[in-house]
Amino acid sequence: MLGQRRLYATASRFITSARPTNGFVGAIGNTPLIRINSLSKETGCEILGKAEFMNPGGSVKDRAALFVVEDAERKGLIKAGGTVVEGTAGNTGIGLAHVCRAKGYKCVIYMPNTQSQEKIDLLKMLGADVRPVPAVAYDNPNNYNHQAKRFAESLDNAVWTNQFDNTANRQAHIETTGPEIWAQTDGKVDGFTCATGTGGTFAGTTRFLKEASDGRVKSFAADPPGSVIYSYVKSKGKEMVRGGSSITEGIGQGRITANLQPDIELIDDALKIPDSATIHMLYRLLDEEGIYLGASSALNVAAAYEMAKALGPGKTIVTMMCDGAYRYQSRLFSRKWLESKDLLGAIPEHLQKYIALA
Ligand SMILES: Cc1ncc(COP(=O)(O)O)c(C=O)c1O
Repeated sequence: MLGQRRLYATASRFITSARPTNGFVGAIGNTPLIRINSLSKETGCEILGKAEFMNPGGSVKDRAALFVVEDAERKGLIKAGGTVVEGTAGNTGIGLAHVCRAKGYKCVIYMPNTQSQEKIDLLKMLGADVRPVPAVAYDNPNNYNHQAKRFAESLDNAVWTNQFDNTANRQAHIETTGPEIWAQTDGKVDGFTCATGTGGTFAGTTRFLKEASDGRVKSFAADPPGSVIYSYVKSKGKEMVRGGSSITEGIGQGRITANLQPDIELIDDALKIPDSATIHMLYRLLDEEGIYLGASSALNVAAAYEMAKALGPGKTIVTMMCDGAYRYQSRLFSRKWLESKDLLGAIPEHLQKYIALA
């Protein structure tokens, strides 16, 4: 039997927050900041990943989901028993479905009908009313986002949360992610990088870190192929080059959203990360660190590695680990799928043992 004191001493290194949270929503945020030992050693920098996959809904989007719903509550746009409507094919829908159950709202999700059955099933299991609609371009009035907006407008006591252009999304990261990173590094962070979907995470975190450090912290936008942000930053707003596509989900953008717009001037540089570097990093992190990440997170870590090389040894670089690989594993660990994307060759021989699926 361990004595009371020894028992506490043994347990205490696992205790990060001693108090129970106020339900599901109280458990959002305050995620660990994980030192990526192998890459830190290799670069001479501290490379740190914010473990957003440890949010209770499993992704960074839990933060935005909570803030857009609470913003609607504050503005009186939604009252008890109301309906939250969003157009989303991914993590925002999952975050919203959880937050709506926790707060007693109905949740309606419009998504393109090209999405996997797994995603539709998960949202349904979380109690959302899922409405797959034909996948058409944004300028078509039947695009899933426009349908979500119209449906919310047709109901009483309903809100379209509009994650792309509702800046309550960015605010989540000004009020939570940024301050957490600042506190967790004792203000010693030198660089921040991540990719943009809505841009809320990148813009809000950048804004906070720039203000907290009087502009000292450098911010690099990370971008997958097919997204315009890299060319926009590199050309100082003169060009938006499309073209190409990526295996990453949840990131990549064809325009400057309202969430990104207010902070566009703060961006110091941009990094384009090819899918081959992303998939290599995804397998490396699994092998060397035991961390199982989705492709957007692997891209972010690859960008942090590039940023470390650009800033030089001795710097502290932070990035986002947005979600785990669980939602994508049937692709990311399938030999056939990797071959179909011409990515098998990007995974070195010694890492191919992780390709567990045919
Ligand atoms: C897996 C994943 N990574 C990154 C992002 C991008 O975050 P943001 O929308 O804040 O730019 C998303 C957004 O949905 C996502 O689902």
